[in-house]
Amino acid sequence: MIILGINAYHANASAAIVVDGQLISAVEEERLSRVKYAAGFPTKSIQSCLSRAGVRLEDVDHIAVPRDPGARVGRKLRYAMRMPRFALERVRVMRRFAGIREELAAAFQIHPTKIRAQFHRIEHHRAHMASTYFVSPFDRAAVLSADGLGDFASSMCAIGEGPRMRTLGEVAFPHSLGMYYTALTQYIGFWKFGDEYKVMGLAAYGQPEYLDEFRRMVWADGPLSFRLGLEYFCHQTQGPDMSWREADRTPIVGKLFSDYLEKRLGPARQPDEPLTERHRNLAATMQAALEEVLVSYWNGLAAKSKQTALCLAGGVAFNCVANGKIFDSTPFENVYVQPAAGDAGLSVGAAFAVQHEILGRSREFQMDHAYWGPQFSSTEIRQTVDGVDSSDNVEIAELSEADLCRTTARHIARGRIVGWFQGAAEWGPRALGNRSILADPRRPEMKDILNRRIKHREIFRPFAPSIIEEAVGDFFEKTHPSPFMTFAYPVRPERRKDIAAPTHVDGTARLQTVSRSASPLYWRLIRAVGDETGVPVVLNTSFNDNEPIVCHPEEALECFRRTHMDVLVLGNFILERKKLPVSKEESVERFAQREN
Ligand SMILES: [Fe+2]
Repeated sequence: MIILGINAYHANASAAIVVDGQLISAVEEERLSRVKYAAGFPTKSIQSCLSRAGVRLEDVDHIAVPRDPGARVGRKLRYAMRMPRFALERVRVMRRFAGIREELAAAFQIHPTKIRAQFHRIEHHRAHMASTYFVSPFDRAAVLSADGLGDFASSMCAIGEGPRMRTLGEVAFPHSLGMYYTALTQYIGFWKFGDEYKVMGLAAYGQPEYLDEFRRMVWADGPLSFRLGLEYFCHQTQGPDMSWREADRTPIVGKLFSDYLEKRLGPARQPDEPLTERHRNLAATMQAALEEVLVSYWNGLAAKSKQTALCLAGGVAFNCVANGKIFDSTPFENVYVQPAAGDAGLSVGAAFAVQHEILGRSREFQMDHAYWGPQFSSTEIRQTVDGVDSSDNVEIAELSEADLCRTTARHIARGRIVGWFQGAAEWGPRALGNRSILADPRRPEMKDILNRRIKHREIFRPFAPSIIEEAVGDFFEKTHPSPFMTFAYPVRPERRKDIAAPTHVDGTARLQTVSRSASPLYWRLIRAVGDETGVPVVLNTSFNDNEPIVCHPEEALECFRRTHMDVLVLGNFILERKKLPVSKEESVERFAQREN
């Protein structure tokens, strides 16, 4: 039984393939098209999934898309009359869904009748919920989806029992925690699609000074419900402008906050204006008000579902700062967040919704690692390494796994920045040890060094630590697994100096807990770092430079060439830049001065 899930005509386009109840591959289009958050039709991802499963499109039995035009039709029609431009855009998207068989056939150059799969439309939030609960380790759990907007709802919750989910409640458009967060992100001067996590990082630098005002903007109005003060927003009058540029498939979100919001809080920050204390306090308040609503929602769901396990999905589930507070503020004891919690994850959710809710199959799969993307053979990696020439000025060695870990660990311990490329690409927006840039977490200056030399991003954004799971309790005040970097926990005060670089200004860190069974090579490397330094932790940031995370070994090599990494590990090959200066810090400073 082959099921293909497709998230199309939407940001974070993606595909996933499930064969006989097991996920075989899941890929976000941006990794292959090299356009961040790419929208449109995910032809390359579908090709990649089919090839990993070793099947043809003609072999697929079921194709599922996470959109149901029949959901909340009355509400859709009412708003369509009020917002004709938005309605036209939705009609355009729906038309494309209606022609998905033809689009697939054209992309794969076969006649549409050759596609024998049955097509299914899964409601957006049911697909989000399926994307987490059906791949979680739990037989029974409370399930919550919360995002900006999908099928005219912004949130849904359920109780999952075996291969079924029973809906407990939903919140419909225009009330939306995702819209709230995006609107305020824009107001603070960040307009690009996906900028919300930047403001979440900024929030740690401020104080929630505007809570009274923000509580009029968003509040819980029942155990499973919340409301927006609609006068602060404009998506309910003009329709949220959520589309994409056809030329490069970059998603676009139009302005979501109203003039009234500016009247109450002062003028919006322009993107080129400096960030002041006021902006930091606005970000802190935005985060605090969201957390108040989430705590109420989580507790309402715990009471109604009577469960101690919780599964989260939807863009709001990426709020690792809020997620880290679940254990202290609710009765939930175990929480699972799928690595692609946002809309990319819908392809996995749609496929598993078919497997369990439509076909009634029992559950046999658990997503305990994130390595579901494209992978490359040792021959392909060797070909890339063969392309290195004298102008690259590197020394190349091919090492056994044990030597590779020991040598790489030594480089990290000496303050060198290492590009680490292994196995299959990660599913979801985080690099989790297969497409990562790694550095020594003990050195406080490493954050600035990485920013200057490689990442070129805002200084207020934190880096993350990866830690072997056996050591989590030594460094953090919580030990609940965070294999996909979806929780931020307080670092024990006495250990903050040991992981100074990835500890955020508020004393927390968005950690990845690394288990030996799920990530054997990465675990071995981090343990080797621990052998060198006494700290079994690495600073882990995604392998990229203002682009989607590298996917192919050639892209890793190009990123290494472009930036100023010291070492590149490609499979079993280690490439080291020659003529490393004696004092790395000195050279970094010289480099920084040159750059400035
Ligand atoms: Fe969504």
